[in-house]
Amino acid sequence: MPKELQSDALPVNHGRMTTALVFGAAGGLGRAITTALQAADVRVLGVAREESVLTGLEATSADLADEPQVAAACLWAAREAGAIDVLVFAAGRMANAPLAETSAAALQQLWADNVLSAHLVTRHAAPLLTPTSHRLFLGAYVEKLAFPRLGAYAGAKAALDAWARVLMREERGLKTTLLRLPAVDTPLWQHAPFPLPKGALTPAAVGDEVVRCWREEKVGVVDLA
Ligand SMILES: NC(=O)c1ccc[n+]([C@@H]2O[C@H](COP(=O)([O-])OP(=O)(O)OC[C@H]3O[C@@H](n4cnc5c(N)ncnc54)[C@H](OP(=O)(O)O)[C@@H]3O)[C@@H](O)[C@H]2O)c1
Repeated sequence: MPKELQSDALPVNHGRMTTALVFGAAGGLGRAITTALQAADVRVLGVAREESVLTGLEATSADLADEPQVAAACLWAAREAGAIDVLVFAAGRMANAPLAETSAAALQQLWADNVLSAHLVTRHAAPLLTPTSHRLFLGAYVEKLAFPRLGAYAGAKAALDAWARVLMREERGLKTTLLRLPAVDTPLWQHAPFPLPKGALTPAAVGDEVVRCWREEKVGVVDLA
């Protein structure tokens, strides 16, 4: 972690430890963001499809596309921490298939994993937020995703982008960031129709950027070049 992010000046709460809730904590980016937050002395609660893969982390399991499971995960976080200072949405899934060969069920599931999940998390985690809480969503450069075999994913990321922009305008009182990422070297790319581009970022660089956005209160659409 860069030295400036280890500063003692990180935001702290009155009388309780600063707490983050990371959705998708078992993914390549979720893990790196968790590590970066912990290095900044933040208590991290994690949510993953399989909590057993999150050894050493306070965690619970949930399919984020399933509303009752998201509600239960948020209730768990409320019981564990009371309030959440940093909410990170780091879940999502890529698919590799031509649109003509993508069934309705496959499209619905992919969009649910990428978009509905963000919506459910936002709604059910809302009671855990304080006026100073910061929400961060991971997005993509949607205009650069229009490749063959990537249509379902590109559509989902475009929807998430527009959804997040509207959320930010509707809820101006809350700190919200859509952190748009270029290619990052994570397991997501195992499902890509082409190899990971040269010069892809490391997950650790994204973790550091998330901490920077929170610490410096960078809100709105933030492009990580
Ligand atoms: N890596 C990149 O180049 C890149 C670039 C731009 C944006 N992003 C976005 O960043 C986010 C994180 O990606 P990543 O690179 O960390 O990918 P990753 O390593 O594949 O991790 C994604 C995580 O999301 C979880 N997930 C997906 N659907 C879920 C659901 N319905 N319920 C619970 N968990 C679910 C996955 O769990 P399972 O394995 O159990 O499905 C996985 O742990 C994604 O939204 C991705 O689109 C990534």
